[in-house]
Amino acid sequence: MNGTVRELNYLKKEMNAVILAHVYQQPEIHDIADFVGDSLDLSRKAFQVKADIIVFCGVYFMAEIAAILNPNKKVLIPDINANCPMADMITVEKLREFKSQCKNPVVVAYVNTSAAVKAESDICCTSSNAVDIVKSIKSGREIIFIPDRNLGSYVQKKSGMEMQIWNGFCPTHNNFILPEYILKARKERPYAEVLVHPECRPEVISLTDHIMSTGIMCRYVKESSAKEFIIGTENGILYKLKKDNPNKNFYPASPLAICPNMKKNTLAKVKDVLINMKNLISVPDNIREKAYHPVLKMLRITQRQKGFK
Ligand code: 13P
Ligand code: SF4
Repeated sequence: MNGTVRELNYLKKEMNAVILAHVYQQPEIHDIADFVGDSLDLSRKAFQVKADIIVFCGVYFMAEIAAILNPNKKVLIPDINANCPMADMITVEKLREFKSQCKNPVVVAYVNTSAAVKAESDICCTSSNAVDIVKSIKSGREIIFIPDRNLGSYVQKKSGMEMQIWNGFCPTHNNFILPEYILKARKERPYAEVLVHPECRPEVISLTDHIMSTGIMCRYVKESSAKEFIIGTENGILYKLKKDNPNKNFYPASPLAICPNMKKNTLAKVKDVLINMKNLISVPDNIREKAYHPVLKMLRITQRQKGFK
């Protein structure tokens, strides 16, 4: 164990802190984290933790969800500039304008949105539960889905529900995981199963075996009888997949699928924010109170449908 890891373990205990990390984080963060998961599992964990301090290793909107759910805890992010460009593709003003063009709209906000945008929405979803969340909406209202057009079009197809979809996208999935990469990877590894994230383009999705969130991918590969997998999502997940399944092999669909923002957090920054209590996430009360409901509604529906405790 190196010095920084030892120090961090000591600090966590002394300060009653936990480290939550998204699967796209760097290996050094995976290894120190108390919990590594997808955005839904991280939201659930953030809701349950007993610690006084949460160091959230992910991008800003994820840490913000932890702060929305835990007004009495301190939530710190190692790098305050770790943003999600897709979340920045919709603002409160743009959403209000979009809503004004629809009849009695119900807004489904992918969690990759700011707290202020969530506060203007009716219910949140993640890529794990988006189909179930949309199906839970009573008919008669126009559904607005923000901000990911690729997840939106996938959900529309799977749920059979008509939606007005915002034209946002994830640069990492949309621009760097392309159909030609999937075709090449399939040719090179004909026995591999191909798993991709629903943030990928529809042309990519149509070429693959399974479409799933990162959390479901982690669970699926354990159960599958396949020994090789081509993974179409941000490549940080490969570290966890191999660590949890040392006898299976994982290949990135694209070597370019890297989210630069997810890589901004480092161990040194985790230590720095803990020692200096820096980069505290603060959500103004009026926004926090409104954003809490769509997040909680999502957690409740997922709990009912999947028996989550
Ligand atoms: P997950 O919900 O699968 O963790 O995805 C979050 C994300 O940002 C994907 O790019
Ligand atoms: Fe946002 Fe894409 Fe990075 Fe996920 S991978 S945090 S959607 S930019």
